[in-house]
Amino acid sequence: MTDIQSALKEYSAWFNSKLEDFFPFPDGQEKRVVEAMRYSVMNGGKRLRPFLVYSCASLFSISREQSLNTAAALEMLHSYSLIHDDLPAMDNDTLRRGLPTCHCQFDEATAILAGDGLLTYAFEILSRPQTADEKSRLELIALLSRDAGAFCGMVAGQMLDLYAENTQEPDKNLLIQRIETMKTGCLIRFACEAGAILGHADNSSRQALVSYARAIGQTFQISDDILDVEGSRELMGKTLQKDQGQGKVTFVSLYGLDKAKAIAQELTDQAKEALSGFGPNAENLRNLADFIISRNH
Ligand code: IPE
Ligand code: IPE
Ligand code: MG
Ligand code: MG
Ligand code: MG
Repeated sequence: MTDIQSALKEYSAWFNSKLEDFFPFPDGQEKRVVEAMRYSVMNGGKRLRPFLVYSCASLFSISREQSLNTAAALEMLHSYSLIHDDLPAMDNDTLRRGLPTCHCQFDEATAILAGDGLLTYAFEILSRPQTADEKSRLELIALLSRDAGAFCGMVAGQMLDLYAENTQEPDKNLLIQRIETMKTGCLIRFACEAGAILGHADNSSRQALVSYARAIGQTFQISDDILDVEGSRELMGKTLQKDQGQGKVTFVSLYGLDKAKAIAQELTDQAKEALSGFGPNAENLRNLADFIISRNH
């Protein structure tokens, strides 16, 4: 295991223990939805986005504790996106994070509501006084609602991903850039920019982190597309080799595996270059860029 993998593992263990506290056990007859929310969050995700929030914020001497609410809010939102992504009307998946997907474990209506619950809970968490000072809180809420939303955010990317299935659209290069930037890139960018907001970073540091995030965000989705073809179901915890059958437009469907890997390597180099101004403090983030391109899960 590389140093960055151990650091991510150690952070995840800490983060998971903290995340438990965000889920009090409810007792009313409506508790099924909270059980479904908890099931879908407390189930072994990599916690890459929370780790990014923390790693970027730590460049400005912000601690794990101080970045916890923002990291937790983002993981709630990401988990909602996975529940809805797996629904029969979307990718129709039965396995997620090594377990039955939310709608298989519960039922479709509960899964839709669990997603809704996690989405709104994310913003409730961000609005809490422990998240940050008032101005930063407002900025985080504005940024996440944009990055998760239907105007150039994750929801827009998911719409385009569905639209692109078996489309005859002539300019697929542009299409794939837009899909991957929005459906995956936006939340990864939020993670890094949120670190800058929490740390009251100056504009040039913030922009450097945004450039880094854009490059690793795209690499992350390219590697997801590559792993869909050549990954291991056990390690990935989800059903693979689905994209082609569903007629998805991906970097792999468009360029083939070798070129997709070469593009991912170019983006990883760009990501590391974007961090040059931070010196040795950003070593974690550089190693994380290498992890994203070489990951097997
Ligand atoms: C999966 O994200 C969905 C994509 C955006 C490709 P992750 O690979 O980060 O999933 P978890 O959180 O580790 O389960
Ligand atoms: C999912 O992309 C992106 C979001 C959930 C926003 P994919 O559909 O490729 O993710 P997996 O492969 O199901 O994890
Ligand atoms: Mg999908
Ligand atoms: Mg999917
Ligand atoms: Mg995928």
